Amino acid sequence: MAGFRIVLCISLVLMLQMVAVVPEIGRGDRLRNRLPGWEPIIRSPVDDPESEVGEENSGTRWAVLVAGSNGLSNYRHQSDVCHAYQILKKGGLKDENIVVFMYDDIANHKSNPRPGKIINRPDGEDVYAGVPKDYTGDQVSVKNLFAVILGDKNAVKGGSGKVVNSSSNDRIFIYYTDHGGPGILGMPGGPYLYAKDFINVLKKKHASGTYKEMVVYVEACESGSIFDGLMPENLNIYVTTASKPDENSYATYCDYKNFPCLGDLYSVAWMEDSESHNLKREKIVQQYENVRVRTLGGTSGSQIAGSHVLEFGNKSIHAEKLYLYQGFDPSTENLPPNKIESPAKMEVVEQRSADLYFLWQKYNKMVENSVEKDELLKEITTTTLHRQHLDGSMEIIGHVLFGPKESSSILNGVRKSGQPLVDDWECLKSTVRVFETHCGSLTQYGMKHMRSFANICNRGIPQAAMEKACKAACSGHNLGKWDPTVVGFSA
Ligand SMILES: *[C@@H]1O[C@H](CO)[C@@H](O)[C@H](O)[C@H]1NC(C)=O
Ligand SMILES: *[C@@H]1O[C@H](CO)[C@@H](O)[C@H](O)[C@H]1NC(C)=O
Repeated sequence: MAGFRIVLCISLVLMLQMVAVVPEIGRGDRLRNRLPGWEPIIRSPVDDPESEVGEENSGTRWAVLVAGSNGLSNYRHQSDVCHAYQILKKGGLKDENIVVFMYDDIANHKSNPRPGKIINRPDGEDVYAGVPKDYTGDQVSVKNLFAVILGDKNAVKGGSGKVVNSSSNDRIFIYYTDHGGPGILGMPGGPYLYAKDFINVLKKKHASGTYKEMVVYVEACESGSIFDGLMPENLNIYVTTASKPDENSYATYCDYKNFPCLGDLYSVAWMEDSESHNLKREKIVQQYENVRVRTLGGTSGSQIAGSHVLEFGNKSIHAEKLYLYQGFDPSTENLPPNKIESPAKMEVVEQRSADLYFLWQKYNKMVENSVEKDELLKEITTTTLHRQHLDGSMEIIGHVLFGPKESSSILNGVRKSGQPLVDDWECLKSTVRVFETHCGSLTQYGMKHMRSFANICNRGIPQAAMEKACKAACSGHNLGKWDPTVVGFSA
């Protein structure tokens, strides 16, 4: 049923796009026929894409694409990144200027329904072919990402060694898609990326004078928290995020055949927007607006389940044309600069539920009484139990530290917009380590508790008290495969 609904959505999107494109071309033809001698070359300077050629020639376009997860049930993040690569490649960016971070365990996964290929929308074409494997597996790390952005070839460990060796006239596009939580973005092997560290890297890059302007797109739960109260306006960087600081982001295209979710709502929104417009004429702000409307309009059953796309940094930059970052595909010459369609309703699944959603679907399709089915159920059960353990432990810790009456409002309290998540980021990291030591790895699901850890720090709770509370909540619990001394700490 849900699958059927999604297919309907997609054909609707395609139809809308065709409707959007066809009359635009038709109108031009009619105009040409009515006005003899109308010379298609003569355009107003504002509309003339050629007028910006000078600007285009003055620097190199760089891109850094990051999928921060691994595992087949997180298919969509690597799929998003591959798709983004294809758009930039068609836009004329050179491989030497596009740095790709992807774990690379999807295309050749034994359970990939389309072996050797990755798609980013139902019935979509392969987006995997040709993607440079700059940093894969454990090389997909915060350290490597920061070194790449800073152009610090010596600090890179493994991989292709490709870095953003940019100069003062260049433009840089960074796109990150993954799980996240308040103040953090995921990385496959941990440690996770902490907002404060990321902003410091951007400041350092700015201080080095090695770019003209930068655009950063981030899809993750609570992605607004990476920049809110932290991102300066004077770095020549413009940012959009998939969600507010206290909001989920959403996976989409989730019921296609035997595939896991194929994409993420904000991500496919910007990419499908880029593919259906002339990027020499579409402004960044127009893309922002289209993506904002579409991302807000996600649905889950009869519920609205979208998130609020936000902007940070220097917002003047959004008046620029998209091709300065994403390039220009000549075959889009006749596409319109912008067209705000009535938002297509996209069926979505919460980022943090998408993996279990996929496993349950798989489970329901499996042959009864098979060994595989039993094993899958075991995997689902242990994962679900660990999540309950994390949630329950947090509740106990809150009760120990703040008492049952105030605990929930303190742990879940959201600071007002413009204030960073936490004042002391080192406290946040050490609090996470204390928690993981006693209660087990946070995992992509447990990232949602970052706000509680932040609030514990903001309240000035001493580490010893946190330690005691964690012991009370988790002593005797078998950490199993979530032992941080085995799987690594996330901070
Ligand atoms: C970086 O670019 C400069 C020219 O701008 C070039 O001379 C240098 O070799 C490049 N370095 C790397 C590591 O590619
Ligand atoms: C923002 O960007 C514009 C356009 O590049 C620039 O003129 C302006 O000085 C920037 N603002 C700040 C605060 O840096």
